[in-house]
Amino acid sequence: MIRLDKYLCDLNIGSRNEIKEYIRKKLITVNGVIASDPGMRISEDSAVTYRGEPLIYKKFRYYMLNKPKGVVSATQDNIDTTVIDLLKDINTRDMFPVGRLDKDTEGLLIITNDGEMSHRLLSPKSHVEKCYLVHLKHNITSDDIKTLCMGVDIGDDTITLPAKVEAIATDRIYLTITEGRYHQVKRMLEAVDNKVVFLKRVSFGPLELDPSLSPGEYRELDESEIIMLNLYKGI
Ligand code: URA
Repeated sequence: MIRLDKYLCDLNIGSRNEIKEYIRKKLITVNGVIASDPGMRISEDSAVTYRGEPLIYKKFRYYMLNKPKGVVSATQDNIDTTVIDLLKDINTRDMFPVGRLDKDTEGLLIITNDGEMSHRLLSPKSHVEKCYLVHLKHNITSDDIKTLCMGVDIGDDTITLPAKVEAIATDRIYLTITEGRYHQVKRMLEAVDNKVVFLKRVSFGPLELDPSLSPGEYRELDESEIIMLNLYKGI
């Protein structure tokens, strides 16, 4: 059971105050009856309408953000803009980013309120493939590529798991990793005496960054993307 105003807020119908107003104006029905109490408790599969249109309740919300540089992957920050601050006109209550990208990294970040999915995707056991476009300060050699692919010592207890590298220019690669260690891509490139000058995540598990999203833009995941994420088992 859920409060009617929470149900409507979760669907982005309006703020709590706007919803009160809609109820006062008799714009909401529950199971065929005009609702009069924003706090009434209803079941998630009740037949609810707004201005005559039937609503379908979604407990979980999933968005794809093309994170821009200069924004932190947090829900709150006293100094910097957070990825949650970027989501305008949607109900961001209980939403958080699935993992982190560094402040100066761009690219695909999932933002959701689905803790169970996030936990599964971030678990080290899941080995979710994350692909990054990496621009380098120096040209990369075939020996460097071999080293990165086999696993490299970045100063942790263990070397990194095998990665995939696709060179697209002498100083640009796609690097796919299955772990999420702190500053992992930057440290892997430092381990082969190079330096990352631009970093963008282009895919996360089965999801690819939507090329129509400019940095700072976002969109809701569609049903097939949510199903893919739910079914994804890592590699
Ligand atoms: N690796 C990094 O070094 N930074 C990121 O933001 C993501 C992966």
